[in-house]
Amino acid sequence: MEEALQALKVEASSDLAAIAGANDLEPFRIKYFGRKSPFALLMRQLGDAPKEDRPRLGQLANELKNDLQLLFDDKKASLAHGAGEASDIDLTLPGRMQPQGKLHPVTQIMEEICEIFEGLGFTVAEGPDIETDFYNFEALNIPAHHPARDMHDTFYVDDSILLRTHTSPMQARVMETKEPPLRVIAPGKVYRCDSDITHTPMFHQVEGFLVDSNVSFADLKGVLSVFIAKMFDESTPIRFRPSFFPFTEPSAEVDIGCVMCNSKGCRVCKQTGWLEILGAGMIDPEVFKKVDYDPEVYSGFAFGLGVERIAMLKYGINDIRLYYENDLRFLRQF
Ligand code: PHE
Repeated sequence: MEEALQALKVEASSDLAAIAGANDLEPFRIKYFGRKSPFALLMRQLGDAPKEDRPRLGQLANELKNDLQLLFDDKKASLAHGAGEASDIDLTLPGRMQPQGKLHPVTQIMEEICEIFEGLGFTVAEGPDIETDFYNFEALNIPAHHPARDMHDTFYVDDSILLRTHTSPMQARVMETKEPPLRVIAPGKVYRCDSDITHTPMFHQVEGFLVDSNVSFADLKGVLSVFIAKMFDESTPIRFRPSFFPFTEPSAEVDIGCVMCNSKGCRVCKQTGWLEILGAGMIDPEVFKKVDYDPEVYSGFAFGLGVERIAMLKYGINDIRLYYENDLRFLRQF
């Protein structure tokens, strides 16, 4: 009996030491202090022990039980005070960040451009990337074999279907279905077979056009000046340079003072102090005739701007291909 009590003491102490969390306390209590515990069993057997041994054994058993109770209470208290399981959680550690997706810089700039023109009363229209020869060229006064087709490096699907080389086909598509007055912007993807540090085979343009009676070149200049002041800076210098497009007459290319060198002349502006950002002009009467508008009644202007180009100038990006490499180190900066 004495050995049995000693053995129980050793077993209980090691079980108690093994307790690592509050969840283990209750099973231990039931095992050692419950009605069916080895302890209770031994106490019941006490009656069978020789009469002269009984007081000593009884005392021994009580001491053991009390000791165990004290150790158990200590353990319980230390677990409750943040030792053991609770200390595995460090509430001061920063949380784990969920990576969050963002809009691509080109999308952001495109939305910004649209917002500025929407503020000037323009509405957004979208058309197909896969376009017909008619809308991309014919309706824009670029007949077959016209030398202007050379500029476009067109991806053809077949003889009459192609990937649009600019967003200008939207001029014809909208005018065909609506009557003036019109104020429309058409953002979207365009495609040209070209690739180097300033060209990608797919890029984005925003087309804009306004048709009404008595629209003049001054209106075009006014609208574009407001756009450039909002997109860049009130003080950004602007110049209109004569140019040619088959679907506008007169035509112009619009330059802004180089934002990289403050118009002083650098590698990006090729020492000129100017950067081209868009093509524009008064809509050619031939375009109006194709959509049955009377050029004697209506006049209008159109412009087309390259979104990647504008984003490059705004953010100081020197290689257009960075937009499409999907390097997170690049994309996260926007
Ligand atoms: N579509 C022309 C281009 O891609 C730009 C342009 C649009 C010019 C509208 C004049 C008017 O180069």
